[in-house]
Amino acid sequence: MRRPFVAGNWKMNTTAASGCALAREIAAAVPTSRDAVDVLVAPPLPYLDCVDDELAKSAVMLGAQNCYHEKEGAFTGEVSPQMLADLDVDYVILGHSERRHVLGETDADVNKKVAAALAAGLGVILCVGETLEQREAGETEKVLAEQLSGGLAGLTAEQFTAGPGGNADLVLAYEPVWAIGTGKTATPEMAQEAHAFLRSKLAEGWGDDLAAETRIQYGGSVKPANAADLLAQPDVDGALVGGASLTAENFLPIIEAAF
Ligand code: G3P
Repeated sequence: MRRPFVAGNWKMNTTAASGCALAREIAAAVPTSRDAVDVLVAPPLPYLDCVDDELAKSAVMLGAQNCYHEKEGAFTGEVSPQMLADLDVDYVILGHSERRHVLGETDADVNKKVAAALAAGLGVILCVGETLEQREAGETEKVLAEQLSGGLAGLTAEQFTAGPGGNADLVLAYEPVWAIGTGKTATPEMAQEAHAFLRSKLAEGWGDDLAAETRIQYGGSVKPANAADLLAQPDVDGALVGGASLTAENFLPIIEAAF
C-alpha cells in the first residue's frame, strides 16, 4: 500500500557537469513507464535547474537538501520553499543530521522549515536519528520521539498531505548518525525496530491512517549489497542514499531492489 521511495542525497558533491551527467544516466534508467517506485535525486542547490532539465522526460523527481522557513526578504544566503517550488522541486530534505550536528539546527528550526515547505506545496523528507553515544546509552527511542514531535509540532495530519500546490507529502527518514558515511549499516532488524517505533509515534500523535500511509525511508550506508534486505522489512518503505547515490552503477541497483 505504501509506494517504495528511493532518494539520492548528493550532499555537497558533484560539479555542474558531473551532476547533470549523473542525472542523465539515472533518468535514462527510470523512464516514465517505470513508476512503481518513487525515485528522487537531490543535487546541490546551484545544480537544481540543470538537473531538472535532465530529468524532464523521466519519472525521477527533483529534491533539494534544505530550505529556509521564510518566503522572501532580507535573509542573505537562504532559499525559500517557494523558490524551490518555482524550480520544480518536488521534495525537500529537512533535519538531516549534518544540518543538526554540523550547522546547529534545532528541532524548533526544523519544525518551522517543515511547516513552511508543506505550506508551499513541497513534499518533505524529515530526517531523524540517534548518535552512537545515544544508542549506547539506550536513548534511541527517546531521541527519535523528541525529533519527531519537535519537527512536526503544531502540524495536523491534513497538512501532511495537501498544500496549495497539491504536492505536500510527509516522508520520514530514519538515519542513525553512526551509520552515515561510515560503512556501518543498521541491521535490517535494527532498522525495522526503529521504523516500527516511529510509525507507532505517528499513530499516537496523528492517527492510525496517517501512520499507515506515511513512508519511512532508511538512510545510512545503503548500498547495492544491503538494499534488498533492508527494503524487505515491513516498515522500511525506501532508502535515503548518500555516497552510493553518486554513481549510477551503485544507485540503480538500489532502485531495482525496491521494485
Ligand atoms: O541522507 C543520506 C545519508 O545521510 C546517508 O549517507 O553516505 O551513509 O549513504 P550515506
